[in-house]
Amino acid sequence: ASTLGASAAAKGRYFGAAVAANHLGEAQYASTLDTEFNAVTPENEMKWDAVEGTRNSFNYSSADQIVSHAQGKGMKVRGHTLVWYSQLPGWVGGLAAADLRTAMNNHITQVMSHYKGKIYAWDVVNEAFQDGSSGARRSSPFQDKLGNGYIEEAFRTARAADSGAKLCYNDYNTDGQNAKSNAVYNMVKDFKQRGVPIDCVGFQSHFNSNSPVPSDYQANLQRFADLGVDVQITELDIEGSGSAQATNYGNVVKACLAVSRCTGITVWGIPDKYSWRSSGTPLLFDNNYNKKPAYDAVLAALGGS
Ligand code: G3I
Repeated sequence: ASTLGASAAAKGRYFGAAVAANHLGEAQYASTLDTEFNAVTPENEMKWDAVEGTRNSFNYSSADQIVSHAQGKGMKVRGHTLVWYSQLPGWVGGLAAADLRTAMNNHITQVMSHYKGKIYAWDVVNEAFQDGSSGARRSSPFQDKLGNGYIEEAFRTARAADSGAKLCYNDYNTDGQNAKSNAVYNMVKDFKQRGVPIDCVGFQSHFNSNSPVPSDYQANLQRFADLGVDVQITELDIEGSGSAQATNYGNVVKACLAVSRCTGITVWGIPDKYSWRSSGTPLLFDNNYNKKPAYDAVLAALGGS
């Protein structure tokens, strides 16, 4: 096939992009999205501050734009994200424990019910572990007030809200085997052993010279898959340019394809100019939507041409 999405589909996978609602009106942005990708993740529009900035007052307008665009094109949607320490409105952090628990479960239930039947996979909990060697949980209102059990509770609430969506844990710096990914691994293993509903683990895969594609990337994906969950590459971007960047991108795609439970890849943006990395060129399309060498490497790795 001649596009990323169709080539991935021929391998039983999806190939998605993070999308911002306010770019959908740009003709080249929309046409590149529609031509090349068969999945989307709203980049910011489903985050807590975007949908429930005021308690129990839900605003889905921007997220709905992306979901209806995707549905019109037959694209999968990854929901991102329900419980995260960042982009969290101030009122959430001000709640005492019992009220916070109610608010967390209400947020999950309301948002998932609104999108019931329309979401392929939800990032139920995002970035709950610290970087570094401790393997400890990251401080957040949820962690600090509800304790370790909040993640399990979030997943149980999520399953009850939409039993048709895959429920994922998503994090960064967990792409290779290290203390942080070991901690996530142990949590997933425990969840599977105890029947806590979890279906997938997302590996964000934000790579640069300080954080290159790990040599044990595929092995790390595989060890999670061996626990009985799907794995997905959820926020891929790789700093650099030219053939070096292309080689790295190709290697990431090959690693996913080598793991049968790696169900898809999402790049974190379409043209370089809209990357969250304000400087740099980490994506597959340049600022004029020309295909970069990295694009060609991804397409080739997917078996397309
Ligand atoms: O919405 C406001 C707007 O009202 C205001 O005028 C404008 C001025 O700065 O800011 C807008 O908010 C920005 C928001 O993106 C929407 O554009 C925030 O400042 C900005 O911080 C925010 O950045 C996002 C970031 O998450 C926040 O943590 C990036 O776009 C987004 O790509 C990034 O994505 C995260 C994933 O969700 C989780 N993993 C890491 C990844 C990269 O940081």
